[in-house]
Amino acid sequence: MPKLTMLTAYDFNTARALAEAGIDYILVGDSLAMVGLGYTDTKQVSLGEMLIATRAVRRGAPEAKVITDLPLKAASKKINVALKAAEQIIIAGANIVKVENAEKNTLRIINKMREERIEVMGHIGYTPQTFDKPILVKDREKLIEDARKLEEAGVMGIVLEMVPSEIAQEITEMLSIPTIGIGAGSATSGQVLVSDDMLGRYNCINPKFLRRYANQYGEMVSAFKEYIEDVKSGSFPNETESYNNGQMVASQPAYGA
Ligand code: KIV
Repeated sequence: MPKLTMLTAYDFNTARALAEAGIDYILVGDSLAMVGLGYTDTKQVSLGEMLIATRAVRRGAPEAKVITDLPLKAASKKINVALKAAEQIIIAGANIVKVENAEKNTLRIINKMREERIEVMGHIGYTPQTFDKPILVKDREKLIEDARKLEEAGVMGIVLEMVPSEIAQEITEMLSIPTIGIGAGSATSGQVLVSDDMLGRYNCINPKFLRRYANQYGEMVSAFKEYIEDVKSGSFPNETESYNNGQMVASQPAYGA
C-alpha cells in the first residue's frame, strides 16, 4: 500500500496548490491558531475561525478530502454543543472531523458524531489541546489502549503525534484503520506535517521531526525589501505597469472585477 499523505491548509491558495500536487488529505488543523493567527497556543482558536478556514480550503480544493479539527473551545463544551460544532464544520465543507485524545468525553462526542454519520479522525500522543508533554516509552500501554478505543468508536484513522517510533509501529500493525504520523517514525500508514513549517513560512519553532522543503519566510522578506526599495527609488511602477487613458480592459481583471 502506498503511504498516505496529509498536509495542512487554512487558506484558498495553499489548498489549490495541495490539490494540484495530488495530496491525499488536506487538514484544516487547529495549528491555524499559532501558524495563521499568531495565538500562543492551539487552544485559543475559535469555531468561527476554523469555519472560515474550512470554507476557504473547500473553495480552493473542491474535490479534496478535507479534515477539520474540532477546536477545544467546541470540544470542551456540552456534548450537544460539540456535536452542533461538528455539524457546522461539515456544512462548511469538511468531509471528516478530527478530535484529540481518547478520554471519556471525547469518546462520547465521537459516538454522537458517528450516530449522525459524521466521519471522524482520532489524534493521540502529543495532543496540544490537552496533553502537551513529551510522549515516553512508559506511555505505551495507554497509547495502545487509546488507539483500540478509538478504532472501536469508529474513527476512520488516527494521527499519532510525537509517539516513539516503535510504539507507532506496534499501533499501526495492530489496527485495521490507517495511522498518520507526525514525528512518529516511518512505520505509520501515512505522514502529516504543517505546511507552513515544511515551507519554512512559519519558522518560530524547529521540531526534530520537521523537514523543511522551502524557505518562504526568507523569500517573503527579500521580496518585500525589494518592493520597498523599488517604490522608494521610483522604479516601481514603470510605464508598462501603468494605465494610459482608456487602457483598463476586461482581460486584466483586478480585485472585485
Ligand atoms: O493542528 C494540526 O495541524 C495538527 C497536526 C499537527 C497533525 O493536528
